[in-house]
Amino acid sequence: MPGSSAAGPASPFVFARQEDFLTPVGNAVNGEFLADEEHVVRRLADAARLDADAAAEVQATAVRLVEAVRKAPAAKGGLDAFLRQYDLSSQEGVMLMCIAEALLRIPDDETADRLIADKIKAGDWSSHLGDSQSLFVNASTWGLMLTGRVIRLDPGDVAAPSGAVSRVVGRVGEPVVRAAMRQAMRIMGHQFVMGRSIGEALEKSLTGGNRRYRYTFDMLGEAALRTSDADRYFEAYRSAIGSISSRVGEYADFEARPSISVKLSAMHPRFERSHRERVLADLAPRLQELCVLAREAGIALTLDTEESERLELTFELLERVARDPRLEGWSGLGVAVQTYQKRALAMLRWLIGLARETRRTLHVRLVKGAYWDSEIKRAQERGLPGYPVFTRKPSTDVSYLACARLVLEKGPEIYPQFASHNAHSVAAVWHMAKRYGREFEFQRLHGMGEDLYSVVTSGDGLNVPCRVYAPVGEHEDLLPYLVRRLLENGSNTSFVNRIANESEPVENIVADPVAVVDGWDRVSHPRIPLPADLYQPERRNSSGLNLADGAQLRQLADRMQKVSRREWLAAPIIAGQDREGAVQTIRNPANGEEVVGEAQAADSSQATEAIGVAAAAQPAWNAAGAAQRAEALERAADLFEQQLPEFVAMCVREAGKCIPDSISEVREAVDFLRYYAARAREDFGRPLRLPGPTGESNELAMQ
Ligand code: FAD
Ligand code: 2OP
Repeated sequence: MPGSSAAGPASPFVFARQEDFLTPVGNAVNGEFLADEEHVVRRLADAARLDADAAAEVQATAVRLVEAVRKAPAAKGGLDAFLRQYDLSSQEGVMLMCIAEALLRIPDDETADRLIADKIKAGDWSSHLGDSQSLFVNASTWGLMLTGRVIRLDPGDVAAPSGAVSRVVGRVGEPVVRAAMRQAMRIMGHQFVMGRSIGEALEKSLTGGNRRYRYTFDMLGEAALRTSDADRYFEAYRSAIGSISSRVGEYADFEARPSISVKLSAMHPRFERSHRERVLADLAPRLQELCVLAREAGIALTLDTEESERLELTFELLERVARDPRLEGWSGLGVAVQTYQKRALAMLRWLIGLARETRRTLHVRLVKGAYWDSEIKRAQERGLPGYPVFTRKPSTDVSYLACARLVLEKGPEIYPQFASHNAHSVAAVWHMAKRYGREFEFQRLHGMGEDLYSVVTSGDGLNVPCRVYAPVGEHEDLLPYLVRRLLENGSNTSFVNRIANESEPVENIVADPVAVVDGWDRVSHPRIPLPADLYQPERRNSSGLNLADGAQLRQLADRMQKVSRREWLAAPIIAGQDREGAVQTIRNPANGEEVVGEAQAADSSQATEAIGVAAAAQPAWNAAGAAQRAEALERAADLFEQQLPEFVAMCVREAGKCIPDSISEVREAVDFLRYYAARAREDFGRPLRLPGPTGESNELAMQ
């Protein structure tokens, strides 16, 4: 690490165009990206609160919906029943997730098989048999245990399943069971997809009772890592629009026609804020092309929203489409807004403004958000100052209501689409929409919410149209989607999960979330500390930077740029005195022209001298005691943290590292310092008293 600086010729700038950091979209929506949850949620509760009569009406409708769902025959429950059976409070539910993830992430069969083998042995799958009346759950459970097709069961196994797995494993060997497990994951996965191809899915959507719903097809791709994948997904979307276009004549009007839902991360291998220019240059024309095709086909196209750090780019791309002269007046453009984000209301205001300015109706699909777990984990991992999402479920529900109200009351430019499987959210939206006299539709996911929506859409129910979000594609592309469904529905706060639990009174399930939030002393989840407090009371987590926020990027760039003009000198320092050594010029490995500075290496006599000085200082340092030494480490940690941008600049220029890696490197140093300060206090602070015979005292002290 460089020790001191010397004036030298100015080095090239690290960043060329600083104005690019602050985009109009970012300025409009990022203000509360990681804002204080208490403040945001209280304000949302005020915006969502209904008067007592209206709240009671909503409640009564919600109760009616829940009772109708509970009365529906369980065998029809399909996926809902499955997800309830394998919730995350069961060991098997967690294992399913692990297995699904393993299949998703592990590239080679052998390693995937080893993990499956490990997990499958530990699960008590048979205990789920008979618990649920759903045929599908039982069939899947048997599949998960053995897959009947591969292994025939003894009649005794069916009657008394306990121990069947280990018996069968013993009989047929693990490889067969593992193959069965993979097959079972496939069977389960297929419950979530409407068809392997768009043709198959379209055909199904036009068959029998499916005709009562509208559809939006999602071509199951996301987070492309290679250009070839991105090209493949783009082609899938293009051909899907073509297929739908050949059938539009079969539908009554524009809204009744199937639409297409697009995940932008599927169509670019670097759909990230840090690759903004490249993304705008490559992806905007692709998206515009799809939108032009959709317009020509006479159908709508909606952008899904994904991880919070992709939001600003998603909106920037949406804006490009909205301002494209070829798409003027097209009323088919849409986007999803996630209400678990603190930025939800700001997003809606921006969208209303965009619709007004470009004189079009925008479709807005209001959702709660499907990436909650990973949003929380990533914010912790990155040491962010706050979370982009709320930490308690009722806050998201309240935000959903506040957002619904804003759109219904203030956004005639918006065609609202309310996507939820929650009876209270549905009832509240329905009452609000009636009050404001607005047209709208509900939406549900394929395989989910069927019982609820058979009431919602029926003439003697709420009589509102519902669109089904129908994934189309192969098993390989389904897994991230599947893992999200397992995670969100396995949680015991999820509506799907609660409605199934007959012991939970209906009034609890449909409790008004505003009243719930009003009753809290504090809004944030008591067991989800802020990222900074993750390791408390032992120590503070090192703080990182939100690289998805242009304002943060700009500050970082400013400070990095300042030190980039310096030439650094690293030289031996002994007892506080600078010394000279053999000079070596240090260049930026990413740009051989750029001189970062000079390093002077210590020779062996200087090293010996330094060791002598250190050894002489040691007794006093030791005598200073653990507390004082720990404080010194903590002071160093704080200084590293305060000067993070400068150290990042050095890592980038001296080692050729990318910025996120450089941040991690500095944070690692900070964490080490705080960790060892804590260890010093704990281990060196006071001696440990050991048990000993009477009259003898034994203590263990560490130095
Ligand atoms: P509920 O059980 O009422 O709500 C569950 C939701 O609450 C979770 O999904 C999460 O958002 C939130 N939540 C859970 N725990 C907490 C907590 N501790 N703190 C704060 N919030 C919490 N999602 C997307 O992200 N992008 C999309 O483009 C998208 N499109 C969709 C399209 C359709 C048609 C549907 C039905 C859903 C879509 N979703 C999308 C998924 C959606 O965001 C929800 O994950 C899902 O609908 C569950 O919400 P709910 O209202 O049905 O159920
Ligand atoms: C998801 O993919 C439905 O877009 C939502 O989870």
